[in-house]
Parts: sequence; structure tokens; C-alpha cells
Amino acid sequence: MSASVLTAVAWPYANGPRHIGHVSGFGVPSDVFSRYMRMSGNRVLMVSGTDEHGTPISVQAEKEGLTERELADKYNRVIAEDLHGLGLSYDLFTRTTTGNHYKVVQDLFLALWRNGYVIPKTEMGAISPSTGRTLPDRYIEGTCPICGYDGARGDQCDNCGNQLDPIDLKNPRSRINGEVPKFVETEHLFLDLPQFIDALGGWLQTRTEWRPNVLKFSQNLIKDLRPRAITRDLDWGVPIPLDGWRDQPLKRFYVWFDAVIGYLSASVEWARRSGDDDAWKEFWTGDAQGYYFMGKDNIVFHSLIWPSLLLGQNGQGAKGGEPGAFGPLNLPTEVVSSEFLTMSGSKFSTSRGTVIYVTDFLREFGPDALRYFISVAGPENQDTDFTWDEFVRRTNFELANEWGNLVNRSISMAHKNVGAIPAPTALTDADHDLLTLSRNAFGVVGDALRRSRFKQASGEAMKVVGAANRYLSDQEPWKLKDDPVRRDTVLHTALQVVQDANTLLTPFLPHSAQKVHEALGGSGVWAAQPQLNEVADLDVPDREYPVLTGDYAGEQAKWESTPIPVGRPLAKPAPLFAKLDPELAETGPEWAPIVK
Ligand code: MF3
Ligand code: ZN
Repeated sequence: MSASVLTAVAWPYANGPRHIGHVSGFGVPSDVFSRYMRMSGNRVLMVSGTDEHGTPISVQAEKEGLTERELADKYNRVIAEDLHGLGLSYDLFTRTTTGNHYKVVQDLFLALWRNGYVIPKTEMGAISPSTGRTLPDRYIEGTCPICGYDGARGDQCDNCGNQLDPIDLKNPRSRINGEVPKFVETEHLFLDLPQFIDALGGWLQTRTEWRPNVLKFSQNLIKDLRPRAITRDLDWGVPIPLDGWRDQPLKRFYVWFDAVIGYLSASVEWARRSGDDDAWKEFWTGDAQGYYFMGKDNIVFHSLIWPSLLLGQNGQGAKGGEPGAFGPLNLPTEVVSSEFLTMSGSKFSTSRGTVIYVTDFLREFGPDALRYFISVAGPENQDTDFTWDEFVRRTNFELANEWGNLVNRSISMAHKNVGAIPAPTALTDADHDLLTLSRNAFGVVGDALRRSRFKQASGEAMKVVGAANRYLSDQEPWKLKDDPVRRDTVLHTALQVVQDANTLLTPFLPHSAQKVHEALGGSGVWAAQPQLNEVADLDVPDREYPVLTGDYAGEQAKWESTPIPVGRPLAKPAPLFAKLDPELAETGPEWAPIVK
């Protein structure tokens, strides 16, 4: 059955180039999933963009001597290029500083406000005694009042996962200069989260397909929900559309409030650019499914905060109410979260110097080797160390020796002996067994992909490759010079399984899948790639920005065994994957050397 599927991908902060830790969390998993969903006949809308407000942007802008807008412009472009290079098939990758985003955020806020889920409250806010300026939550550090962890931040404790307010920290200090912040009165708007406790609890109980750690983690946090401030004393952010707030230069929405609404605003922007302003509704209402992809530090915002905003705008919290301007919207079908990719045990981090940038990686190794590594050996269920040794092993033994070699030797033999896809004659049991195995893999691998079990899915696909290599070793077509009828049957069988395995691997390896398609004599687009386009802001004059978008409907890859046409001419194939120098495992590349 074909469905409408929203793939909602976490929005990277526009504060620097992406490293491979980032894209292992939100990037590659969401793309593998979307490609599979499209191949199996679903309509997919995959959206995201750069997250351009908040203190991560302000702090980096200050470091680089740029305004926030200049910094966001710079890294929006850099990040769009990184993701383009990886072949992430967004329908729209945009940004949070568009006129459209501002309007959607404000409209959604107004629905929450009218339904009574937003309360103004005066609280104590931190300022820096030496500068007199507000000290953002993230830049306050102290001891967590809940678990006692000493490195808790003003907004969140990374040890126990709880949301915090800076004033609750014990022994608070500024992460900028160590001084003790001063707390002064300031008025803010709060999202009345306790109004959603019952609705969230009931909803989470129905989410039985989620990864158990994500579900448990979210359920544990529900009972402690308190009203949360959704505004900040800042000048960089989306203005608050209420009298008395609108024109205040130092009141803006909190970055996480506007960012999660980005899923909706990007869908609306995509629809407006498609020429049908209402086209987004197909992916947000009725039977549409929504899958959200992110790293684990983002879970609470997607499993509790965003659903609360949706419930509130729908009028479905304890206070009831009416749906806002967008009508009733669906809650997430699933929140798919990855753990962290680490290096020597610690989280990838630009500040600690353990960093491998996507752009460097792509320049040297191309996109598919990284996509494959993240899929088979990434942090799907637990924090996972990236090592060059493992990367070299996976690339050389699995991609080059197993898959590349299967493609190369079967097509080369057929090319040399026949010059075209040979015709099969009577099939033996061995032929049947291999063909059945590869046909059955579509069900097994597909089920795993639908459930975002990427390791299992890629492992099962590679089993078909392994079986095909064993088949060739057993049948030894190169020794069948005197029996061309049997030789052609073996080669036909091998090529059919190359075709099937290539289809099974397409979500993981879309760039090489296109090459294999061509090596098998196919033409046209097998797996479509995103385009990087320059567009004008739909609402703000004289503003242009790059977006990722694409035409994926025309790609030929379908999730099924497609018979290869007998007689189609074959050329001599070029090698699919270059083998890496084993020394790389010891030294690392020169742009990210292993420090012993
Ligand atoms: N920018 C955030 C981060 O990198 C993620 C935002 S996801 C969103 O952690 F949905 F809220 F945009
Ligand atoms: Zn804690």
C-alpha cells in the first residue's frame, strides 16, 4: 500500500561545517530511509534546513567577527554543499531565517496563544555582572539539581537528560569567564507543558514500534514536565507577534521553539515553491506518516516538546481549543534517534579537536564509502567509535572485495565471452537457490529499512552479495569454455543477482548504484540525486539563498527484482570502489592524522 511519508530531518546549526558525527545522526539514516520509502512506491517529503538562531550562532559569530546573519549565510551554504555531496535526497533543505519560516512560526504560536497554552510569567534571568548583558542558558554551567552531575548546562543536563532552568543549577558559573551570574527579573512567555501530560502519555503508549530506549527515555520525562520559557532576552530570533512584545528589541522566540516548527515551515515552503500552496497537507494530515531523524541529544524536543506544540495548536491539550491556521496536524509516527559517533571514546567535537569534516572525507573517499560505513558500523544503538582501521576494513573487504569484485568479474566475463547479457537455459538447483535467496531478500531488507534497522538491513543485503560470490566460486564459469550453454546460464544468473543486490544496496550506495546500473547496460536515472539551487526568498525582497531539492519521481530504482534483458550490450566495466592503502589504518589521512 502506498502512503504519504514525511521524513523530518533534524536541522543542523549554521555554526560551522559538518563533521561525520553530525551526519551519522541525522543525515545518512534519514536518506537511506527516504530512498527506500520512495523505491517501494510511497510518496515522500523529506525536509530540513539550517538552524540559524540561538546562542550557538551568536557565539560563533562573535568568534569570527561576523554578524549573526553573515555567519548564518556563510554556514548555510557550506552545510548545504556538505549534504549535497553526500547525496542526501531532500525535497527541500532550507533555513530558519526565511520570511516563510518567520510567518509559520508566528502563526503556530498564535494558535497556542489563543488556545491558552502560553502563559506570561516573570522569572529570574541571568545577566553577566561584568558586561550587564543577558547570559544565555547554554553558557551557564553548574551542578544538576536532579542528578548531581557537575557539568550540567543552564538549559539541559547531558548526564540525566532533564531540561533545566539556569536558576536551579547549584553553584552556577559563566562558561565564558567563570564569573557567578546575577539573576534579575524579566518577563517571558511559557509553554504550559503540564496541560499536555495526559495527551502525551496516552500517545506515547501507542508508539510501540519506537526503539525502546527512545520510548522509555521520553516516558520517564513526562511526569516532570513544567512550564518552559519559549522566549529569550535576545535580539537574534523570530519576533513575538503580540502587542507589547512585537517591537521589543530584546524579546525573541527561543531557538528550539522556532527550529522544531521548521518541519512545518519547510513543508509549506516546499509546497509554495511547487506551485500548489496546499501540497504540504498530504504529508501532515490523515493517514500521512511522519518519521523524525536525529542524534540522541535531540530526543526530548521531538518526542515531547514538538508533540506538545502540535497538540496545543490542534486544541488537544487539557484545555481543549480550536485548531489554528494549519488545521489539525499529525503527531510524529516515530522519533528515530541515533547514539553518538565518537572518536577515541569522546563525542566528536570541534572544540576538542577530534573532528573529521564531511567535505574532507568526501574529497578523498567519495560519498558512498561514508554512507556505507555509517549504515553498517554507525552508532545506531550505542555510542560507537570511529576508527580508520574499521573504515579501511569495511571499504576494502566489503565494498571493494565483496561487492565491487562481484560486479566487476560477472560483468567482465559476460562482456568478454558474450558482449551482452547472456541467455539462460535450464536452471539447476544452485541457480534457483541463489535467485530465490536474492528475491526473498527484498522482504527481509525492506522490513528492516522500514523500521530504521540499518545495520540489519545492510547486513542482509550483503549476504546476497556473499552468496553470489560463493556461487561463482562453485560454478567456475571461467572453466566452462567447452560448455557455453551452461556458462551463459551461470553468467545470466550471476548478473541477475548483481541487478538484485544493486537494488537492495541502492538506498545505502546511490552513487555506485547508478554506475552499476550503467555497467549492466542500463541508461537514464537509476537513483536520483539532489540539486543545489539558488532561489529568492518568497517573502523578503532582495534575499537569495541556496536550497537542496530534487526530482526523485522519475528515478527507475524500484524495490523489487527487475529481470535483466537478455541481449543488452555490455561494455568492459570500470572498477567500482578503489581499495584504500592499508597504511591509512595506522596513520589516518594527513588532514586528520591519528595522534598516538
Ligand atoms: N540545531 C539542533 C542541533 O544541532 C537541532 C535542531 S532540530 C530541530 O542540535 F528540529 F529542532 F530543528
Ligand atoms: Zn542531571
